[in-house]
Amino acid sequence: MNPAINTMKSSEELMKLEDNYGAHNYHPLPVVLERGKGVYVWDVEGKKYYDFLSAYSAVNQGHCHPHIIKALKRQAEELTLTSRAFYNAKLGPYEKFIAEYFHYDKVLPVNTGVEAVETALKLCRKWAYKKKAVERYKAKIVFASGNFHGRTLAVISASLDPDSTQGFGPYMPGIEVIPYNDLEALEMALKDENAAGFIVEPIQGEAGVVVPDDNYLKSAKELCKKYNCLFIADEVQTGIARTGSLLATCGDCDCGSRCENKHEVKADILILGKALSGGVFPVSAVLADDEIMLCIQPGEHGSTFGGNPLACAVATAALEVVERERLSEKARKLGNLFRERMQQLVDKSDLVNLVRGKGLLNAIVINDSEDSKTAWNICLALRDNGLLAKPTHGNIIRFAPPLVMTEDQLMDCCDIIEKTILVFSK
Ligand SMILES: Cc1ncc(COP(=O)(O)O)c(C=O)c1O
Repeated sequence: MNPAINTMKSSEELMKLEDNYGAHNYHPLPVVLERGKGVYVWDVEGKKYYDFLSAYSAVNQGHCHPHIIKALKRQAEELTLTSRAFYNAKLGPYEKFIAEYFHYDKVLPVNTGVEAVETALKLCRKWAYKKKAVERYKAKIVFASGNFHGRTLAVISASLDPDSTQGFGPYMPGIEVIPYNDLEALEMALKDENAAGFIVEPIQGEAGVVVPDDNYLKSAKELCKKYNCLFIADEVQTGIARTGSLLATCGDCDCGSRCENKHEVKADILILGKALSGGVFPVSAVLADDEIMLCIQPGEHGSTFGGNPLACAVATAALEVVERERLSEKARKLGNLFRERMQQLVDKSDLVNLVRGKGLLNAIVINDSEDSKTAWNICLALRDNGLLAKPTHGNIIRFAPPLVMTEDQLMDCCDIIEKTILVFSK
């Protein structure tokens, strides 16, 4: 190994390296992490923190979960990648496992969240031409304002966030953006004979953990059915137990971890990513029934790494952990406690306007303008007090710890947040 890599150990030096040699497409909180276990991460100087972001809800099962890492190591020694030019011994069993786990006929395995979103959009268009007889290349997909589906050209074409879009045009056509949580606008958009589908985040994570009205998803699905359009749920961030049920579209169903097909709203196309691998490496998936999934035929879509044996082993283990450790129930119970504690803080401090969220996907809104530095400065102070979180959209701080947290740990974290914010309020 290059000795220079070994000796450059301080946070300062490592941040400088990223700054000098990495593209400047992120603005990380200044902390350099080198180890993680469960709900904790450690920086290069050895300081320990609660991880209250979980890599944007990818590490729901906790850092380096032993069951997942064991599966990773075992499979890494056997076979990692074959491409889909050949069958591999892990893919079929994984496909059966995940399809049954979420109650769909079939899965299309890919790698990152945005790739799964792209796959779902392509599938929706193909379905529209093949099954709904939409005029060739006239298909329209409806998106909600405030959406975040990733960073490719297709999905930023539906974004209203200037940071995501400016300077990247021309944008993809065939998109209509309507207000989130607005059923009238949705009905108007779906009436169009070219409407193919509606893609929606059940809770908008990046927008600041925006929770729609109780009946929104159910009614949106009914509208899709009425106008023969596909209801596409992007559960990349909300899925895999994060919001207190296996999927946010399950609503408050009591199926615990493994879905018992009592979805409050069953999406026609379900998109999963992030915690599908427990944050071990990129694994994502698109699930649908045959009527939709078989619209795509050999050669029409794919990915070299999609469905690789290592991903299959890791995702299987990650889903086993969700079930065995009853993470949905934990997220629901801990989420209620967390919001109760944060509500007390809202009552005590003028600096916090409100707390919102579901399960362990929550946010507090800081009483300051969107372009103020207050939320960022609070996150710096939280870091100094041993808890890592990051603002989203300026004045909103998202809180999404690993779901394997204990109640005592959660209370400890609430104490840290309370102490930090009360100092700021003075
Ligand atoms: C709802 C949603 N969809 C898609 C994505 C994109 O996932 P990835 O960053 O893995 O491409 C994200 C990422 O935050 C997300 O929150």
